[in-house]
Amino acid sequence: MRHAAVPARRPTTPTQENSVTTSQPQPQAATTAPEATITMPAPDPATTSTPAKVVLITGASSGIGRATAQRLAREGHQVVLGARREDRLIEIAREIEAAGGRADVRRLDVTDRADVTSFAEAAAERHGRIDVIVNNAGIMPLSRLDALQADEWDRMIDVNVRGLLHGIAAALPHFQRQGSGHFITVASIGAHQVVPTGAVYCATKYAAWALTEGLRLELDPSIRVTTVSPGVVESELADSITDEAAREAMRAYRADSIPPSGIADAISYAIGQPPGVDVNELVIRPAKQR
Ligand SMILES: NC(=O)c1ccc[n+]([C@@H]2O[C@H](COP(=O)([O-])OP(=O)(O)OC[C@H]3O[C@@H](n4cnc5c(N)ncnc54)[C@H](OP(=O)(O)O)[C@@H]3O)[C@@H](O)[C@H]2O)c1
Repeated sequence: MRHAAVPARRPTTPTQENSVTTSQPQPQAATTAPEATITMPAPDPATTSTPAKVVLITGASSGIGRATAQRLAREGHQVVLGARREDRLIEIAREIEAAGGRADVRRLDVTDRADVTSFAEAAAERHGRIDVIVNNAGIMPLSRLDALQADEWDRMIDVNVRGLLHGIAAALPHFQRQGSGHFITVASIGAHQVVPTGAVYCATKYAAWALTEGLRLELDPSIRVTTVSPGVVESELADSITDEAAREAMRAYRADSIPPSGIADAISYAIGQPPGVDVNELVIRPAKQR
């Protein structure tokens, strides 16, 4: 587990407001700097009702993942950030730590099952447990089916479906051992409706919805399961569109968008419910989106 410039922090004198329920971080070989001990600022009671949790976030280097990391860290949670652009993750972790939060970073490719497994293993080893995994990494290179962009179809399936499955497989043994845990899938409004140029993307998001619902039905109720389906959100997602016609169509479609903090707020809400309350689905669109 790579840590940002400032190592993971913990409160010196835990109080009811800022106590960390996870076991203390364990030093490990990959830790490059000694642990600093500082007093964490108490989480803002207006925005949190939960004790600190260890929250893994995939696709944390931009957009919704980044906003979720910042929001949850502000509430006092220990966030563990994964994505391929490690430089971005380090920058985000520095911002979080400068604001008094705690973040670990690790380069992560969700298409690689072993990589996702060790992402979870390293977090569990360091913090003693994993409370939440936000399976958020995703790509959206839209195009019409008759454009035959088969490589992009494969990439969407690899990241949006296999990546999600890898996240589930990595966290589930920890949740079962602990007798608690929370899966959060960032699906999409594309899990509920299909649009032209979006057939494959929507298929991956329908799959994400189905996998997450299947988890909910199969798992012990001690493990919570939430699907979050955003509408149009400001992010880098549309940058992955290479098809000129699809890119042009998306420009108009995405003109009305909401900030990623709107989705981070929804994720925070789901995490903040008492253990017996499972927020299964949240759909968050710009008010103007139909
Ligand atoms: N923005 C929207 O309008 C919208 C609407 C509905 C649903 N969503 C969903 O929200 C999620 C987040 O997207 P976003 O809107 O925040 O877009 P974004 O800014 O492009 O973020 C996507 C994230 O996924 C990561 N990622 C991509 N491939 C990866 C891989 N192989 N391994 C690990 N991480 C990978 C990217 O990091 P690296 O490139 O650094 O790896 C990035 O951090 C996606 O699942 C998307 O489908 C977004």
